[in-house]
Amino acid sequence: MKFFIDTANLSQIKEANDLGILDGVTTNPSLMAKEGIVGEKAIRDHYTAICNIVTEGDVSAEVLSTTYDEMVAEAQELIKIAKNIVVKVPCTLEGIKAIKKLTTMGIKTNCTLVFSVGQSLLAAKAGATYVSPFVGRIDDISSEGVDLVQAIVEMYEYYGFATQVLAASIRSTGDIIRCMNVGADVITAPLSSITKLVNHPLTDIGMDIFNEATKKMRG
Ligand code: G3P
Repeated sequence: MKFFIDTANLSQIKEANDLGILDGVTTNPSLMAKEGIVGEKAIRDHYTAICNIVTEGDVSAEVLSTTYDEMVAEAQELIKIAKNIVVKVPCTLEGIKAIKKLTTMGIKTNCTLVFSVGQSLLAAKAGATYVSPFVGRIDDISSEGVDLVQAIVEMYEYYGFATQVLAASIRSTGDIIRCMNVGADVITAPLSSITKLVNHPLTDIGMDIFNEATKKMRG
């Protein structure tokens, strides 16, 4: 199971990368705007900075255009930034067509804004490297985001699709565990949801006991 960090914040990306367990990064226009990135040069420079921190893992950079021709052209520019850029494309008909084209060009893609198994089927048929069901946003409308992750995992397994299921819009540590339980290939989450996985009161109690013993042993 791969761990991606879902942010464009450089210090958080560095902190997660320093843990040694990070497999990649996902960004989107909202996350980039949150970091105050404005203008084409700034966008490019920011992706370069991210790829200088995470040099091996996949870094999703989202297209900003919405038509097939523009998305394909934009993707070709994005992949020049670094060898580990994955082009994130929305799950629209234009986007599916663009994913198919980029796949034939050997460009890795992440099909985003996925909210149904039908959409995930189109993404896989187009050859997307990743499909991103948005768990939290489905939970927001009183439904079960993790059920969608499970349905996609099972459908891909049944048909033998190679597209990896990347559970996105993760809002908590519990979301990570639930996605793990249904076999998500990847989760992308905020740093705090990832680091909180380490928390356990028995670990804290155990550490206190060991630290007391250590003091005695050292004399
Ligand atoms: O991974 C997609 C994510 O950035 C969207 O998260 O919390 O805006 O639904 P959220």
